[in-house]
Amino acid sequence: MAFDPSPPASIQNLLHRACHTWGLSRLDAELLLAMALGKPRSWLYAWPEHIPGPAIQETFIQLTQQRAAGKPLAYLTGHKEFYGLDLQLSPDALIPRPDTETLVDTAIEIIDRHKARRILDLGTGSGAIALAIKSQCPACDVWASDVSSQALGVARNNAKRLGLSVHFCQGCWFDAIPMNCGPFDLIVSNPPYIAPDDGHLEALSHEPRHALVAHNHGLADLFEIIDQTPKYLADGGFVWLEHGHTQGAAVRERFHERGYQAIESRHDLAGLERITGARLYP
Ligand SMILES: C[S@@+](CC[C@H](N)C(=O)[O-])C[C@H]1O[C@@H](n2cnc3c(N)ncnc32)[C@H](O)[C@@H]1O
Repeated sequence: MAFDPSPPASIQNLLHRACHTWGLSRLDAELLLAMALGKPRSWLYAWPEHIPGPAIQETFIQLTQQRAAGKPLAYLTGHKEFYGLDLQLSPDALIPRPDTETLVDTAIEIIDRHKARRILDLGTGSGAIALAIKSQCPACDVWASDVSSQALGVARNNAKRLGLSVHFCQGCWFDAIPMNCGPFDLIVSNPPYIAPDDGHLEALSHEPRHALVAHNHGLADLFEIIDQTPKYLADGGFVWLEHGHTQGAAVRERFHERGYQAIESRHDLAGLERITGARLYP
């Protein structure tokens, strides 16, 4: 569909076209136009008749077209808020989801109640979980790993920008963790858990596939973490994992088979079973 750039459009006309011609939500259109202008969103309301110059109009048209083609807003703006933190993002790292805040809430509850101090976040991506925990619980010694060096680059940048000290290491699950840095009081992870043939993947095509997909109906990485965790967990330590809303029973069963206790699942903000945790005693 052609986007008619002439006559030069005002702020309100550009927003109208982005929404009605290209089908963007009003919020997305405003955020992209504010970004193209280099102004806060409130500026659009103060100056609705302003006519941006041709370069800004062109930038906005390109952003609008990419958004209409399905590119996530967070990859266009390069930002996403998570647990009150402004995280910078690139397409190398998964966009953190509000569902994952349930895992952070639970981690903070355990840290407060059980004085957990050594914390590990496996598959940290943008650093979302590890940085949220460190920001809320500064006394904790937080470690975070990922198999992707590009994702770790995003996480390290976020830690530096936010002034949060987290130890990052690269490698496949526990292979990344130096032997002398355990045991941990709490291990958390939001690993890939979507089955390779899941129809939802089409809508997630802009995000890294290795961050989303796991074999064995999406359970392979969850099971590997459950199986390996005992070597790295302190006596009486906790492990909490995010999973798909239909995977809770399989995850609880695996914890049970591997001798964990106090196995429990919790729901996300949408009321779906989203995280499962357990403790391990000698
Ligand atoms: C679902 S994303 C979660 C990212 C981030 N923790 C969050 O919640 O937004 C899963 C993460 O696990 C990482 N990952 C995938 N396979 C891995 C492996 N074998 N070892 C370590 N990390 C892995 C991916 O690179 C990705 O960053």
